[in-house]
Amino acid sequence: MHIKSAEFVMSNSDVEKCPKSRLPEYAFIGRSNVGKSSLINMLTSRKSLAKTSGRPGKTQLINHFLINKNWHLVDLPGYGYARVSKSSKKVFQKFITQYFGLREQLVTAFVLVDIRHTPQPVDSDFMKWLGENGVPFSIIFTKADKLRPKAIQNHVDAYKAILLETWEEMPNYFITSSSKDIGKDEVLGYIAELNEN
Ligand code: GTP
Ligand code: MG
Repeated sequence: MHIKSAEFVMSNSDVEKCPKSRLPEYAFIGRSNVGKSSLINMLTSRKSLAKTSGRPGKTQLINHFLINKNWHLVDLPGYGYARVSKSSKKVFQKFITQYFGLREQLVTAFVLVDIRHTPQPVDSDFMKWLGENGVPFSIIFTKADKLRPKAIQNHVDAYKAILLETWEEMPNYFITSSSKDIGKDEVLGYIAELNEN
């Protein structure tokens, strides 16, 4: 898919105030610092459409971007960031839960996972929660530029082993690197396919 236009629409913490249009929507979620905002910039070929940072906890709100005037990309805050206070974690969990519960436009979520790490319960628990709540998702492994192909395969296999304890099949997954432009055509092609259905 060719990205002709990518525009920031709005940021907010109130799901009721998100765009009312029925355009198909794709949300990016995962632990803080996993590379959600960077991936959105890579996919849209825009350097700073979504704000990125080396410090975890940069994205705090629900950010809508309008792509090619006919679908939305959504950048969500990261979960599992230890340094935020307990009360803000609660607020965060509430609006994330509301987002997935209320956004009927959501076609699929992309759960981002840092390929360098061994499987983390916070990620597999979140995927389980999505499944229990009927939210379709795919996995996007990020930062593939940091590992050699063999290590990438080993880490994906470790994830498969964990996820197959919960799921009958390995969820759909992509291997990406925002700094090396890896996986862009695959993710955009998948979105284009879903947009046509
Ligand atoms: P929060 O908004 O804080 O939850 O983080 P995020 O998931 O949006 O991560 P962000 O895109 O801000 O990136 C976090 C850090 O990881 C930044 O320093 C990025 O430069 C780095 N990063 C993101 N993607 C990649 C990648 O593919 N490869 C490498 N090497 N670094 C990356
Ligand atoms: Mg971010």
